[in-house]
Amino acid sequence: MTMLNIRYEKTTAPKELPKEDNPLKFGTIFTDHMFIMNYETGKGWHDARIVPYAPLSLDPSAMVFHYGQEMFEGLKAYKTEDGRTLLFRPNKNIERANNTNRRICIPEIPEEDFLDAIKAVVKTDEAWIPTKPGTSLYIRPFVIATDPFLGVRPSDTYMFIIILSPVGAYYPEGLNPVKIWIEDEYVRAVKGGVGEAKTGANYVASLAAQVKAHDDGYSQVLWLDGVERKYIEEVGAMNIFFKINGTVVTPKLNGSILPGVTRNSVIELCKTWGVPVEERKISVDELYEASNNGSLEEVFGTGTAAVISPVGHLRFEDHVMQVSDGGIGELSQRIYDTITGIQLGDIEDTFNWTVEV
Ligand code: COI
Repeated sequence: MTMLNIRYEKTTAPKELPKEDNPLKFGTIFTDHMFIMNYETGKGWHDARIVPYAPLSLDPSAMVFHYGQEMFEGLKAYKTEDGRTLLFRPNKNIERANNTNRRICIPEIPEEDFLDAIKAVVKTDEAWIPTKPGTSLYIRPFVIATDPFLGVRPSDTYMFIIILSPVGAYYPEGLNPVKIWIEDEYVRAVKGGVGEAKTGANYVASLAAQVKAHDDGYSQVLWLDGVERKYIEEVGAMNIFFKINGTVVTPKLNGSILPGVTRNSVIELCKTWGVPVEERKISVDELYEASNNGSLEEVFGTGTAAVISPVGHLRFEDHVMQVSDGGIGELSQRIYDTITGIQLGDIEDTFNWTVEV
């Protein structure tokens, strides 16, 4: 099945699969196996293997621990009613992974090998793909720098690892609207930095604001641009969309926003449906005005983990913008139903987004 030469070491102690009624809290349960491949300058990527899921043994001086040279991705696998296993747009994640790799001086991973690795590990732990509505198998590929060295430079050795986690909703709210805090003190990223790369640095930069927002009862932080601090960028773990006066508006990618796969899929869907969609700058003032004059009709976040997540309430400084009456908007629901329908093989995939394992 695979071009990549993978060595298999199957577990002799398989874990019990999660019970039907397990809510599969995001990112807490891991399957029996993981994929690993090593890199060494001069030797390239080598020693692809699928081994039992277990702790890693790394030198305490491994560069990833000190300077954060690491890339990660997130995508999902779904089980269709007729028993097929589908990935959703894996090539988009692979392309983005290599964009991240280039930005942070990690050697690129050949696209076909990357896809073979995902398919092989998902196939190995296929029995772990949950089937209850709203669940899926979250796939987390990542690369870490492993040179035992404390100087600052790109590492000469890396590990590429893929782990798998059966998951339910990312937010405890599920499809109920979340509350979002528009951050006015910290910034996440600036143009020329690593904002559009999927690397841990962006997420660690978000923690202090997230803690502050959580303490005030908010689920997530919405970031403004790092220079003028006026324009909407993205939410902690999602891109963001607004429906204003019938038009869907999302911030235009500008180098400091993560180019989300779900973001791109939502834009494509809206275009196909004839729903006007604009990628452009949106100022927080424009939002506030739209909220005041009643034209802010829907707000939702998009992400692989979060799927489509309605936002019911935004706060900026002392201003509260109430978006909905507590439910999910009509367009948000239609997008959610269509994307999850395609992912699960229930709706015809006219876009060729799904890839069978
Ligand atoms: C994803 O949506 O897959 C992500 O990587 C967001 C993550 C920070 C949970």
